Amino acid sequence: MAISDSTREQMAELAARYPRPRSALMPMLHLVQSLEGEVTAEGIAACADAVGVSAAEATAVASFYTMYKRRPVGEHHIGVCINTLCGLLGGDAVYEAVSDRLGVGHNEATPDGKFWLERIECQAACTHAPVMTVDWEYVDDVTPASAVEVVDRLERGEQVLSTRGPAVRGFRATEHTLAYPDDGLAGEGTLVDAKMLAGLAVARERGMSAPGVPTAGQEG
Ligand code: FES
Repeated sequence: MAISDSTREQMAELAARYPRPRSALMPMLHLVQSLEGEVTAEGIAACADAVGVSAAEATAVASFYTMYKRRPVGEHHIGVCINTLCGLLGGDAVYEAVSDRLGVGHNEATPDGKFWLERIECQAACTHAPVMTVDWEYVDDVTPASAVEVVDRLERGEQVLSTRGPAVRGFRATEHTLAYPDDGLAGEGTLVDAKMLAGLAVARERGMSAPGVPTAGQEG
């Protein structure tokens, strides 16, 4: 898809946010992904132009970070964490169940363009392992059956609420938020729950506290 003039204007506006325009490259690549559902060669070239780096430098960034996809993701990105804690608590079984349901493997899209499946690394959400993400929104404490049910709901076009965030909106919408974080949804969903605070509760019960942070002149 050709990059439109209005997209180039948005890119210039993103570049102007930073003292050094190249700092805008990553949100800019997410902007491209929000428009195209992937990071195309044309999109990379437009980003490179906008921030004043070579296409090779911009390609190096786009190919290094796994959140940038060089093939169309489709409507929904499904991530299943298979790192240590999620794996121990059933993440591998969840991944296998979702993979069987969709008929695709790691970093593959379903032929109808509806889903992309990815084994993902730790999402810093281990308190709620095993964790799955839908368009990068958390779906916590999943089982193989509940994970497949989420996919079924998405396929039927039903609303899926993330456990700790807004309702699932679609891959491109999330990608837009990664370019423009102020989407007004930061307060949606249950942000903190008892599981997250369990360690703090135990520390308080036992009168434990963290050492103070040294002030200037006290270091060493
Ligand atoms: S290991 Fe899965 S969220 Fe940390």
